Amino acid sequence: MVFWKRLFSNPSDSATSAPTSQFNGELLDVKGETDSQRRIFLSTERDIDLYELEELCDAVGWARRPLRKVKRALTYSFLVVSMWEVKGNRRRLVGFARATSDHAFNATVWDVVVHPSCQNKGLGKALIKYMIRQLRNEDISNITLFADPQVVDFYRRLGFVLDPEGIKGMFWYPD
Ligand SMILES: CC(C)(COP(=O)(O)OP(=O)(O)OC[C@H]1O[C@@H](n2cnc3c(N)ncnc32)[C@H](O)[C@@H]1OP(=O)(O)O)[C@@H](O)C(=O)NCCC(=O)NCCS
Repeated sequence: MVFWKRLFSNPSDSATSAPTSQFNGELLDVKGETDSQRRIFLSTERDIDLYELEELCDAVGWARRPLRKVKRALTYSFLVVSMWEVKGNRRRLVGFARATSDHAFNATVWDVVVHPSCQNKGLGKALIKYMIRQLRNEDISNITLFADPQVVDFYRRLGFVLDPEGIKGMFWYPD
Protein backbone atom coordinates (compact mmCIF):
# COMPACT_ATOMS: atom_id res chain seq x y z
CA MET A 1 0.00 0.00 0.00
CA VAL A 2 2.83 2.32 0.88
CA PHE A 3 4.33 1.84 -2.56
CA TRP A 4 1.09 2.60 -4.40
CA LYS A 5 0.72 5.80 -2.41
CA ARG A 6 4.33 6.77 -3.00
CA LEU A 7 4.09 6.07 -6.68
CA PHE A 8 0.92 8.02 -7.30
CA SER A 9 1.34 10.88 -4.88
CA ASN A 10 4.56 12.16 -6.44
CA PRO A 11 4.11 13.44 -10.00
CA SER A 12 7.81 13.05 -10.71
CA ASP A 13 7.60 9.29 -10.17
CA SER A 14 7.13 7.08 -13.17
CA ALA A 15 5.29 3.78 -13.11
CA THR A 16 7.37 2.40 -15.93
CA SER A 17 10.65 3.26 -14.22
CA ALA A 18 9.59 1.89 -10.82
CA PRO A 19 10.57 -1.73 -10.32
CA THR A 20 7.37 -3.76 -10.38
CA SER A 21 8.45 -5.61 -7.26
CA GLN A 22 7.77 -2.35 -5.39
CA PHE A 23 4.01 -2.56 -5.99
CA ASN A 24 1.73 -3.90 -3.35
CA GLY A 25 -0.25 -5.36 -6.17
CA GLU A 26 0.05 -8.08 -8.72
CA LEU A 27 1.32 -7.24 -12.19
CA LEU A 28 -0.73 -9.02 -14.84
CA ASP A 29 0.30 -10.41 -18.17
CA VAL A 30 -2.12 -8.99 -20.74
CA LYS A 31 -3.07 -11.24 -23.63
CA GLY A 32 -2.08 -9.62 -26.97
CA GLU A 33 -0.77 -6.43 -25.31
CA THR A 34 0.63 -4.02 -27.91
CA ASP A 35 1.21 -0.95 -25.74
CA SER A 36 4.63 -1.34 -24.11
CA GLN A 37 3.94 1.63 -21.79
CA ARG A 38 0.87 0.07 -20.26
CA ARG A 39 0.86 -2.08 -17.14
CA ILE A 40 -2.15 -3.70 -15.47
CA PHE A 41 -2.12 -4.32 -11.72
CA LEU A 42 -4.43 -5.91 -9.21
CA SER A 43 -4.63 -4.43 -5.75
CA THR A 44 -6.51 -4.98 -2.51
CA GLU A 45 -6.12 -1.32 -1.57
CA ARG A 46 -9.54 0.09 -0.56
CA ASP A 47 -8.83 3.72 -1.27
CA ILE A 48 -10.99 3.84 -4.39
CA ASP A 49 -12.50 7.00 -5.85
CA LEU A 50 -16.24 6.27 -5.82
CA TYR A 51 -16.82 8.46 -8.86
CA GLU A 52 -14.23 6.47 -10.79
CA LEU A 53 -15.93 3.26 -9.71
CA GLU A 54 -19.28 4.68 -10.80
CA GLU A 55 -17.78 5.53 -14.23
CA LEU A 56 -16.54 1.97 -14.57
CA CYS A 57 -20.00 0.59 -13.72
CA ASP A 58 -21.60 3.10 -16.12
CA ALA A 59 -19.30 1.82 -18.86
CA VAL A 60 -20.89 -1.65 -18.67
CA GLY A 61 -24.40 -0.23 -18.38
CA TRP A 62 -25.12 -1.01 -14.74
CA ALA A 63 -27.82 0.97 -12.98
CA ARG A 64 -26.45 3.67 -10.72
CA ARG A 65 -26.55 3.14 -6.96
CA PRO A 66 -26.41 5.77 -4.21
CA LEU A 67 -22.71 6.47 -3.59
CA ARG A 68 -23.12 6.55 0.20
CA LYS A 69 -24.42 2.97 0.01
CA VAL A 70 -21.62 1.91 -2.34
CA LYS A 71 -19.17 3.40 0.18
CA ARG A 72 -20.71 1.34 2.99
CA ALA A 73 -20.65 -1.76 0.84
CA LEU A 74 -16.92 -1.30 0.23
CA THR A 75 -16.22 -0.55 3.88
CA TYR A 76 -17.99 -3.69 5.08
CA SER A 77 -16.78 -6.02 2.33
CA PHE A 78 -14.34 -8.69 3.39
CA LEU A 79 -12.24 -8.32 0.25
CA VAL A 80 -12.09 -5.54 -2.32
CA VAL A 81 -10.02 -6.05 -5.46
CA SER A 82 -9.36 -3.29 -7.94
CA MET A 83 -7.62 -3.51 -11.29
CA TRP A 84 -5.54 -0.59 -12.45
CA GLU A 85 -4.14 0.42 -15.80
CA VAL A 86 -0.88 2.26 -15.20
CA LYS A 87 0.72 4.45 -17.85
CA GLY A 88 3.58 6.69 -16.81
CA ASN A 89 2.51 8.19 -13.49
CA ARG A 90 -1.23 7.92 -14.23
CA ARG A 91 -3.54 5.17 -13.21
CA ARG A 92 -7.09 4.34 -14.23
CA LEU A 93 -9.54 1.96 -12.61
CA VAL A 94 -10.32 -0.71 -15.23
CA GLY A 95 -11.67 -3.56 -13.11
CA PHE A 96 -13.30 -4.27 -9.81
CA ALA A 97 -14.78 -7.03 -7.66
CA ARG A 98 -15.53 -7.48 -3.99
CA ALA A 99 -16.55 -10.24 -1.62
CA THR A 100 -18.54 -10.34 1.58
CA SER A 101 -17.86 -13.09 4.10
CA ASP A 102 -18.56 -14.60 7.51
CA HIS A 103 -14.73 -14.67 7.91
CA ALA A 104 -14.80 -18.42 8.47
CA PHE A 105 -16.60 -20.61 5.96
CA ASN A 106 -18.32 -18.57 3.26
CA ALA A 107 -17.67 -15.72 0.89
CA THR A 108 -19.86 -14.28 -1.83
CA VAL A 109 -18.43 -12.39 -4.77
CA TRP A 110 -20.17 -9.20 -5.98
CA ASP A 111 -19.82 -6.44 -8.56
CA VAL A 112 -17.38 -8.15 -10.93
CA VAL A 113 -16.57 -5.77 -13.76
CA VAL A 114 -13.87 -5.19 -16.37
CA HIS A 115 -13.95 -2.01 -18.49
CA PRO A 116 -15.12 -2.77 -22.05
CA SER A 117 -11.82 -1.43 -23.43
CA CYS A 118 -10.00 -4.13 -21.46
CA GLN A 119 -12.35 -7.08 -21.93
CA ASN A 120 -11.44 -10.33 -23.71
CA LYS A 121 -7.79 -10.08 -22.71
CA GLY A 122 -7.89 -12.53 -19.83
CA LEU A 123 -8.25 -9.81 -17.19
CA GLY A 124 -11.62 -10.90 -15.81
CA LYS A 125 -10.25 -14.39 -15.41
CA ALA A 126 -7.15 -13.04 -13.62
CA LEU A 127 -9.37 -10.92 -11.35
CA ILE A 128 -11.49 -13.88 -10.26
CA LYS A 129 -8.50 -16.20 -9.85
CA TYR A 130 -6.84 -13.56 -7.68
CA MET A 131 -9.98 -13.28 -5.53
CA ILE A 132 -10.17 -17.02 -5.10
CA ARG A 133 -6.51 -17.11 -4.08
CA GLN A 134 -7.01 -14.33 -1.52
CA LEU A 135 -10.09 -16.04 -0.08
CA ARG A 136 -8.38 -19.43 0.06
CA ASN A 137 -5.48 -17.75 1.91
CA GLU A 138 -8.06 -16.82 4.55
CA ASP A 139 -9.16 -20.47 4.67
CA ILE A 140 -12.55 -19.67 3.14
CA SER A 141 -13.69 -22.76 1.27
CA ASN A 142 -17.24 -21.96 0.13
CA ILE A 143 -17.16 -19.22 -2.51
CA THR A 144 -20.48 -18.30 -4.12
CA LEU A 145 -21.78 -15.69 -6.53
CA PHE A 146 -24.87 -14.72 -8.50
CA ALA A 147 -24.15 -14.80 -12.21
CA ASP A 148 -26.10 -12.88 -14.82
CA PRO A 149 -27.30 -15.38 -17.46
CA GLN A 150 -24.84 -14.11 -20.08
CA VAL A 151 -21.81 -14.72 -17.86
CA VAL A 152 -22.61 -18.18 -16.48
CA ASP A 153 -20.08 -19.78 -18.84
CA PHE A 154 -17.43 -17.24 -17.88
CA TYR A 155 -17.69 -18.42 -14.27
CA ARG A 156 -18.08 -22.07 -15.23
CA ARG A 157 -14.71 -21.92 -16.99
CA LEU A 158 -13.24 -20.70 -13.70
CA GLY A 159 -14.52 -23.70 -11.79
CA PHE A 160 -17.84 -22.39 -10.48
CA VAL A 161 -20.63 -24.96 -10.51
CA LEU A 162 -24.21 -24.04 -11.37
CA ASP A 163 -26.78 -25.18 -8.76
CA PRO A 164 -24.59 -27.87 -7.13
CA GLU A 165 -26.68 -30.80 -5.90
CA GLY A 166 -29.78 -28.99 -7.12
CA ILE A 167 -29.35 -26.06 -4.72
CA LYS A 168 -31.29 -23.03 -5.92
CA GLY A 169 -30.51 -19.43 -5.10
CA MET A 170 -33.59 -17.74 -3.60
CA PHE A 171 -34.28 -14.05 -3.29
CA TRP A 172 -36.68 -11.97 -1.27
CA TYR A 173 -37.56 -8.50 -2.52
CA PRO A 174 -39.75 -5.87 -0.85
CA ASP A 175 -43.16 -5.44 -2.55
C1 LIG B 1 -17.80 -10.79 -17.43
C2 LIG B 1 -16.49 -10.03 -17.53
C3 LIG B 1 -16.01 -9.66 -16.12
C4 LIG B 1 -15.44 -10.90 -18.22
O1 LIG B 1 -14.21 -10.22 -18.21
P1 LIG B 1 -13.16 -10.37 -19.44
O2 LIG B 1 -11.92 -9.70 -19.01
O3 LIG B 1 -13.78 -9.91 -20.69
O4 LIG B 1 -12.99 -11.96 -19.50
P2 LIG B 1 -11.66 -12.76 -19.89
O5 LIG B 1 -11.07 -12.11 -21.09
O6 LIG B 1 -10.81 -12.90 -18.69
O7 LIG B 1 -12.30 -14.16 -20.26
C5 LIG B 1 -11.86 -15.38 -19.67
C6 LIG B 1 -12.49 -16.52 -20.44
O8 LIG B 1 -13.92 -16.45 -20.32
C7 LIG B 1 -14.51 -16.28 -21.62
N1 LIG B 1 -15.58 -15.32 -21.48
C8 LIG B 1 -15.50 -13.99 -21.28
N2 LIG B 1 -16.73 -13.44 -21.17
C9 LIG B 1 -17.60 -14.47 -21.32
C10 LIG B 1 -19.02 -14.55 -21.31
N3 LIG B 1 -19.80 -13.49 -21.13
N4 LIG B 1 -19.58 -15.77 -21.48
C11 LIG B 1 -18.82 -16.88 -21.67
N5 LIG B 1 -17.45 -16.85 -21.67
C12 LIG B 1 -16.86 -15.67 -21.51
C13 LIG B 1 -13.39 -15.78 -22.53
O9 LIG B 1 -13.61 -16.15 -23.86
C14 LIG B 1 -12.18 -16.48 -21.92
O10 LIG B 1 -12.12 -17.82 -22.37
P3 LIG B 1 -10.69 -18.59 -22.48
O11 LIG B 1 -10.11 -18.65 -21.09
O12 LIG B 1 -11.06 -19.90 -23.03
O13 LIG B 1 -9.85 -17.74 -23.40
C15 LIG B 1 -16.64 -8.74 -18.38
O14 LIG B 1 -17.12 -9.11 -19.67
C16 LIG B 1 -17.57 -7.71 -17.79
O15 LIG B 1 -17.16 -6.89 -16.99
N6 LIG B 1 -18.84 -7.72 -18.21
C17 LIG B 1 -19.82 -6.71 -17.81
C18 LIG B 1 -20.16 -6.82 -16.34
C19 LIG B 1 -20.69 -8.19 -15.98
O16 LIG B 1 -21.52 -8.74 -16.67
N7 LIG B 1 -20.20 -8.70 -14.83
C20 LIG B 1 -20.63 -9.97 -14.31
C21 LIG B 1 -21.83 -9.79 -13.45
S1 LIG B 1 -22.37 -11.33 -12.73
